[in-house]
Amino acid sequence: MKQFLSAHDVPDIKALVARALAHKSVPGANKHLGVGKRIGLLFLNPSMRTRLSTQVAAQNLGMEAIVFNIGSEGWALEFEDGAIMNGTTVEHVKDAAPIMGRYFDILAIRTFPALKNREEDYSERYIQQFVKWAGIPVISLESATLHPLQSLTDVITITEAMQAPNYKPQNTNLKPKIVLTWAPHVKALPQCVANSFAQWINAWGEADFVITHPEGYNLDERFTKGATITYNQDEALESADFVYVKNWSSYHQYGQILSQDASWMLTLDKLENTNSAKIMHCLPVRRNLELSDEVLDSAHSIVTEEAANRVWAAQAVLEQILKAGA
Ligand code: CP
Repeated sequence: MKQFLSAHDVPDIKALVARALAHKSVPGANKHLGVGKRIGLLFLNPSMRTRLSTQVAAQNLGMEAIVFNIGSEGWALEFEDGAIMNGTTVEHVKDAAPIMGRYFDILAIRTFPALKNREEDYSERYIQQFVKWAGIPVISLESATLHPLQSLTDVITITEAMQAPNYKPQNTNLKPKIVLTWAPHVKALPQCVANSFAQWINAWGEADFVITHPEGYNLDERFTKGATITYNQDEALESADFVYVKNWSSYHQYGQILSQDASWMLTLDKLENTNSAKIMHCLPVRRNLELSDEVLDSAHSIVTEEAANRVWAAQAVLEQILKAGA
């Protein structure tokens, strides 16, 4: 693997999941692979899980990880080609990225969308400029439209839950039913996690996949094609084995909040018609807005295990990139 920006960079998702679970069983098995190698973790936006889990993963492989909160501590970067830099930006990405390419062996970047201009956000201009100018492998720590380390983690977590002795699928002859449900939120959030989850579950190909949301929240078909889409949450939840809860702002009325309908919050009574579904969320979660306390604090919730698995996802990805010669 030469880069990790989306599911398309992964030749075999099941094999990568297996590597992640192998790392979870024996975290230090490959502790010399990254000795003498350095990863730069650039954050234009806040993070807890992504930042810490990638640092731990790098350390498990013997790598040195250097975090740079470039968004708050670095020079303001210019991304426009040919820009006359007489405004607030101080350094062009085509000057900054090659220098980082000399300091590090792998570069990892988090950059959120502005949610103002859909074409600009969906062109992934920021992360693609680093890919173009850094000259070393680039890993997405969440970009304008996707969050691949989160989605790999989600597939790992589902795989692991299905391997548990107490897992009883809705029907042993069927694939697990996985439901992605929209939840209310007070802020306009990116579509990244939902896009990415849909892309990975479709690419994985091991699920009966349903997406449910209010009208106006349809995601980009490039990611959702293959899933069943319904505006009826109760119908979607029927017999579900896994329910992934996430808010996103509108894709078609770009970046807008069209609904704050509290009836979309997942509560314990809504789980009665599921197959005792496991509940997932990428975190951070707004309690009693997106998900009720009673669900998050119940045995249905696997959000802590899911977040813990971020380490093994990052470790599996770093391992593949190191083995490819980073
Ligand atoms: N899920 C996730 O990416 O968490 P952080 O924003 O804390 O990294």
